[in-house]
Amino acid sequence: MSSKRYDVGGVMLPRPFHIQRLGHIGLSQADLEACTDFWVDNLGFRKTDALQPPGVPRPLGWFTTYGADHHALVHIDALLEQGGPHYGRGVTVNQISFQVGTLKEVADANAYFKENGIETWRYGRDFPGSNWAVYAYDPDGFRVELFYGIEQIGWDRRSKPAPFYAMPDYTPHLPERAELSEIKAVEAANPDMAKGFRPAEDAPFECEVGGVMLQRPFAINRMGPVHLFVEDVERSEAFYTQHFGLSRTEVVTWKGHRAVFLRHGNDHHAIGLFPAALREALELDQRTKLFSFGIELGSYQQLKDAVAWLRARGANVSTDLPSELRPGIDYAAFVRDPSGHTAMLYCGIEQVGWDGKPRPPEQRRKVQHTWPATLDAMSDTYVSLSRQGPMA
Ligand SMILES: [Fe+2]
Repeated sequence: MSSKRYDVGGVMLPRPFHIQRLGHIGLSQADLEACTDFWVDNLGFRKTDALQPPGVPRPLGWFTTYGADHHALVHIDALLEQGGPHYGRGVTVNQISFQVGTLKEVADANAYFKENGIETWRYGRDFPGSNWAVYAYDPDGFRVELFYGIEQIGWDRRSKPAPFYAMPDYTPHLPERAELSEIKAVEAANPDMAKGFRPAEDAPFECEVGGVMLQRPFAINRMGPVHLFVEDVERSEAFYTQHFGLSRTEVVTWKGHRAVFLRHGNDHHAIGLFPAALREALELDQRTKLFSFGIELGSYQQLKDAVAWLRARGANVSTDLPSELRPGIDYAAFVRDPSGHTAMLYCGIEQVGWDGKPRPPEQRRKVQHTWPATLDAMSDTYVSLSRQGPMA
């Protein structure tokens, strides 16, 4: 590994960027509309924009979110990927996207990937969403994005209007202007700026959650972790630790299969790497190398209520996957969409402190087959919640 160091905000790091959080995930969907509707109707993601270039008669993708980020879960028509080298091998993930702190880190990451012979897909600015990004391919062909400055949607739930997308040049030329300067320029040039997209969200408000009537008996806190099946766990671990700065938290060997869990911050892991052979052993969907993507709900009560509510709606929900395969997460439910993409619903992930050590396995909560009515608190219960605005 290179001993080169890079100045990231006045601190010297082995890479010219630092990952702050897992922001969004993209899925390549064989049935775009049915799968988008699945996650919107069942989990409460709301549409924020269509991916529909001028002259194209129907959307080629949908951006959806649960909070202020323009997108947290993106659905892209698999037609756009089917000619590529990876989709046919089960890489039905369009992107796994991490936020970094500055635009300079995105630009420097692009140069770093080139210096280190890492294949990139795109470098520039994405619309809709307005985020600056560079995408690199991991050894299996999963696209890993580093982004800065994703559009924030406010109280009126409207995305930026179309005139914002008419940017003449998507390649960064640092220093770029602030978003406020951009807003002023777009407003000055478009005095009759039409309002941006706002979804209907017309389901009835029948579920009480923490003193507020919502459309579902739960609210999403955040995305991640992502669990992937890979061809060579060691090769992928080396890629993510050397080039993205992730650290190994834990190795689990389950029935002879070795899985590795990597973190970028306090969460036990952001990425779990599993050998592809385990997919057959678990009799999971063979169409995709995505084991699961995490959706953290607001509480254990919300998780229990989500399982009951989703089952009553006829969704495919399992609570039977071995808990050993998700160290740091105890109670979890797995929900599968029509394309075979599975979300892991959970309500809190173990927190790793300054010394980088996970909780010893024998001190973790034991997962009961029949979920208990309530749980005893752990030292890291309710310490990682990130929601700032209202639940819906
Ligand atoms: Fe992205």
